[in-house]
Amino acid sequence: MSLRLGIHDLSLATTSFVVQLDDLAAYAGVDPDKYRLGLGQEQMSVPGADEDIVTMAARAAAPILERHGVDGIRTLYVATESGVDQSKSAAVFVHSLLGLPSSCRAVELKQACYSGTAALQAALGQIARSPEDRVLVISADIARYALDSAAEVTQGAAAVAMLVSADPALVELESATGIYTAEVDDFWRPNDSSTALVDGKLSVDAYIDAYLGAWDDYRAHGGVPIEQIDRFCHHQPFTRMAAKAQRALAEHVGAEIDEARHLGSTRYNRRIGNSYTASLYAGLASLLDGDDDLTGARIGLYSYGSGSIGEFLAGRVVPGYRDHGRAAATLAALDTRTTLSIEQYRALHAGAAIGSVQDVTIAPVSSGPFHFTGVTGRARHYRR
Ligand code: CAA
Repeated sequence: MSLRLGIHDLSLATTSFVVQLDDLAAYAGVDPDKYRLGLGQEQMSVPGADEDIVTMAARAAAPILERHGVDGIRTLYVATESGVDQSKSAAVFVHSLLGLPSSCRAVELKQACYSGTAALQAALGQIARSPEDRVLVISADIARYALDSAAEVTQGAAAVAMLVSADPALVELESATGIYTAEVDDFWRPNDSSTALVDGKLSVDAYIDAYLGAWDDYRAHGGVPIEQIDRFCHHQPFTRMAAKAQRALAEHVGAEIDEARHLGSTRYNRRIGNSYTASLYAGLASLLDGDDDLTGARIGLYSYGSGSIGEFLAGRVVPGYRDHGRAAATLAALDTRTTLSIEQYRALHAGAAIGSVQDVTIAPVSSGPFHFTGVTGRARHYRR
């Protein structure tokens, strides 16, 4: 009998602060419908001074460890493009905050918004070899663009932790996968910049090119025809991107694709904003937490990372998955964020890029259990 492998638990965390995009529209003198309807966004999560990808990653994973313990977790992957050090992996900080055993490797992966999927694939490979192992995969990112740029409204932040195992309780992933890699300067962040650079229009085209390329490769490698995919879930830099992508795919394969097949995956992302590596899996959380009973449904997942890599894979929702959901906790996390005025948000944005040259102490301001406490001797420190 072949092994059933996939996502056993999934938990989403975001920051303690939020900007209402209607406020940003008023500040920028833009019609709020451009953001609400044109881009499909309502809010964006913003980190406090004591929050970063490490604190969000730990916050996402802690409920998983509370439920399942740490036994059998021998690998922790943290996927991010908002790394906090050029050498030491964010995973090592997260490993310490979570109290994982020393017999657990901790590694960071990077390829723009895509690397969470690379981590997931690596985890599946490891479990295929050692089915008793469980792998903790955390995708965590803070999307930051320059103030007053066209991309500013597509900022956001979140982390999604997934426990990957044999006999999963949520989604059983199928082995067929489609990949598309092509070098393109659509979006990148040089080592000396705290904000990303982006060619917006090119990035939208590159996202779609990679979607169609990954789809063709998926079909060529045993993937099912489009009619057999019940729901779609995409990387969502802004939620209308998913609609654009579906239109392009429908045209490409010559099929009708009803909007209802992807809309359930956009509810959380509309309120979080872009969360780069976490975005696709925040979409999956949204889909699984929705009102539809998805038992047995096949979900198609499209992962995109600028630069660029696209991957399409699919999984079946496992019977009983609703008993393992976290909808109440996720909605509470979204609802209890503190709204920042545009002035407060702009001040926070301007001060976010702290260097390591001067020692600094950061006071706790966020509501989560984990805090970035500052820098001494050029090293970052955290506490629970
Ligand atoms: N009412 C309703 N809709 C309106 C409107 C109004 N008053 N005003 C404008 N719109 C619509 C426009 O018609 C447009 O819709 P279509 O795309 O369907 O034509 C939409 O709102 C956006 O308007 P613009 O194209 O004029 O927006 P813009 O030029 O200001 O910027 C953007 C949009 C290029 C996405 C920009 O926000 C950006 O650069 N964002 C960052 C890059 C990004 O997210 N790229 C996505 C693919 S790359 C990727 O996925 C990796 C990643 O995570 C970054």
